[in-house]
Amino acid sequence: MRRYPLPALAGPIPPHGGELVDLVLTGAAAERALDEARQLPKVALGAREAADLEMLATGALSPLRGFMGEKDYRGVLDEMRLADGLVWSIPITLSVDDDGLKRIGRADGVALTIEGVPAAILDVGETFRRDREAEALAVFQTADRAHPGVAALDRAGDWAVGGGIRVFELPAHASFVEHRRTPAETRVAFDERGWRKVVGFQTRNPVHRAHEYIQKCALEIVDGLLLHPLVGETKEDDVPADVRMRCYEVLLDAYYPKDRILLSVFPAAMRYAGPKEAVFHALVRKNYGCTHFIVGRDHAGVGDFYGTFDAQRIFERFDADDLGIVPLMFEHAFWCHRCEGMATPKICPHGDEDRLILSGTKVREMLRSGERPPPEFSRPEVADILIEAMSG
Ligand code: ADX
Ligand code: MG
Repeated sequence: MRRYPLPALAGPIPPHGGELVDLVLTGAAAERALDEARQLPKVALGAREAADLEMLATGALSPLRGFMGEKDYRGVLDEMRLADGLVWSIPITLSVDDDGLKRIGRADGVALTIEGVPAAILDVGETFRRDREAEALAVFQTADRAHPGVAALDRAGDWAVGGGIRVFELPAHASFVEHRRTPAETRVAFDERGWRKVVGFQTRNPVHRAHEYIQKCALEIVDGLLLHPLVGETKEDDVPADVRMRCYEVLLDAYYPKDRILLSVFPAAMRYAGPKEAVFHALVRKNYGCTHFIVGRDHAGVGDFYGTFDAQRIFERFDADDLGIVPLMFEHAFWCHRCEGMATPKICPHGDEDRLILSGTKVREMLRSGERPPPEFSRPEVADILIEAMSG
């Protein structure tokens, strides 16, 4: 009988740009940098920028090594590419107002502080004026201030400071400590579990049946699922991260195979940039070690600023090698009473009258008034936590 060699192990997926960036100084180097920072002009980071700093520091934003200079910024807006040609879809910038710019003056280093604590030095490469209009149109595809991303951009300073960072103090987190993992740590966790194909799932919502369905469909063809809820800044009416985390925990406990799931938090702020953010979310999850990434309906969307599947179509603009992570696209998932199961238009021949489709607004109303949505929409364990948090 002929024996065939087993295929060689492919090894872990390379980070974007090939190398996992690590900008965290330790020991004597960290102490020296802290001393140096004391002499420098200070720039206080807001929550969004602190989250970006943390992600830069730990390589989640590889290959970036700091806040973007103008060439990268322009490349991202105009071509979805960094100056060196790598795909990148969301600007990572540090903005300052006129006062901030004056304070920096001609200094070649700036101390970045988080809640008053010096965290890093930014070696100033350049300062440049942000092109708000172009940025809003390129990133959010609208200049409408009703869009939360445009509103945030509006609040930011007129100037951006670009340059590499050296980090000596990562943000101290009191929350979700056991679920915080750097890209290096999720990579080790996947390896320990023997997962070669890992699908990443981004969410800023509680996981309802539709999310569960697409996660489990994906899980049928890969080894493990990284449930990677975003816990950075979100808009007012999104469910707060601590409530969501409790929802994920009860759900995983009751309905998911433990050895195929890793729950870990994603520190980023939500941009609500739809298609552009979907590409960003995918690239960053590649840095965390995922080989696949789920993109469903209206990924990272808000209101009706984007078409339902725009965030899937944008991936057609890139070669597989340019992305390096495989997007897994899913149509709108729902429960179908005639199918007696979760389905999408791709596999269900029935009409809307047989499908359980509830708007977000309707679900919020039900939860606020203490009413559980049907179990075909949301697991009762999850509904109960949301009711407790939202009613009364
Ligand atoms: S967000 O970050 O993309 O805004 P959200 O929690 O709304 O998070 O969605 C998480 C993921 O599930 C996204 O990829 C989204 O496209 C997908 N998704 C959400 N609801 C559905 C649904 N009913 N059918 C298919 N995909 C969905
Ligand atoms: Mg959504």
